[in-house]
Amino acid sequence: MSFPAHRMRRLRASAELRRLVCETQLEPSHCILPLFVCPGEGVKREIGSMPGNYQMSVDVVVKECEQLQSAGLGGIILFGIPESKDEEASGAYAADGIVQRAVTAIKRACPKLLVITDVCNCEYTSHGHCGKIVGGDVDNDLTLEWLARTAVSHARAGADIVAPSDMMDGRVGAIRRALDQAGFSNLPILSYAAKFASSFYGPFREAAESAPQFGDRRSYQMDPANAREAMREIELDVQEGADLILVKPALPYLDIIRMARDRFDVPLGAYQVSGEYSMLVAAARNGWLDLERAMLESLTAIRRAGADFILTYFAREVARLLG
Ligand code: PBG
Repeated sequence: MSFPAHRMRRLRASAELRRLVCETQLEPSHCILPLFVCPGEGVKREIGSMPGNYQMSVDVVVKECEQLQSAGLGGIILFGIPESKDEEASGAYAADGIVQRAVTAIKRACPKLLVITDVCNCEYTSHGHCGKIVGGDVDNDLTLEWLARTAVSHARAGADIVAPSDMMDGRVGAIRRALDQAGFSNLPILSYAAKFASSFYGPFREAAESAPQFGDRRSYQMDPANAREAMREIELDVQEGADLILVKPALPYLDIIRMARDRFDVPLGAYQVSGEYSMLVAAARNGWLDLERAMLESLTAIRRAGADFILTYFAREVARLLG
């Protein structure tokens, strides 16, 4: 009955027709670039497992941001590699910590660039876990104090958004209260609400020097098998005051992004994580796929699933190609 009246190929015949009926847009403004700041001066060290990404000292990261400011990106998100690590993650909430210094310098040089800070302890603890260890596991409620102090210190340094990524229970509420008390009631919280215990974080842990020294993160990050639990995580974070929510990783979790989009009306992001980036780059280096096309296709898929914005190591490339 439908054929030959209906011929789906009619609207695919030219680039102009295809553009007219395109359902999903991808723009540089949808992309947020993660950056890694480290101690020192004039440091720009390529991360072996993430070609094209660098650990950069504050002066270098500021120069980088000056170039990015005109690229039309949604913003950047900062991760820190501290001078030294300890049991108490003191570098995470130090007023002159690496991220705090970077934020202040970046906002001074680039007031129009949106700067998000990742709020977590794993880069700052000697054991590499995301919180305070008591009896062999991360203690939830004691860790909340560190997170709240870290968020307030980022706010004081000038962050535009703080983004807790640790997966402790109650952290959004704890951070919201601390920010409000410190006079930052207008500072938004982007919660990594549904963060899965994923093998795709492997390259990041080299970049941020944050691999756990014992065990794994499965007592706080989510089981990749669970979708309903992800909805509960998001619901709780929204109740606690999250302004924006994030699903992480992205491409292997498109169903979670779609479910979240259909259920919640808060702005929704997705994190195309280090492993998602590195496997595309590695395959392209072997000549197995076309990097530009694979990159745009994967990012478009994440947008199509329902993400308003995407944290991606390809943000620079997107701006270069589509800006
Ligand atoms: C910190 C954090 C991680 C990532 C973002 N924030 C690592 C982890 O949970 O081990 C991963 C990002 C990426 O892989 O690109 N908790």
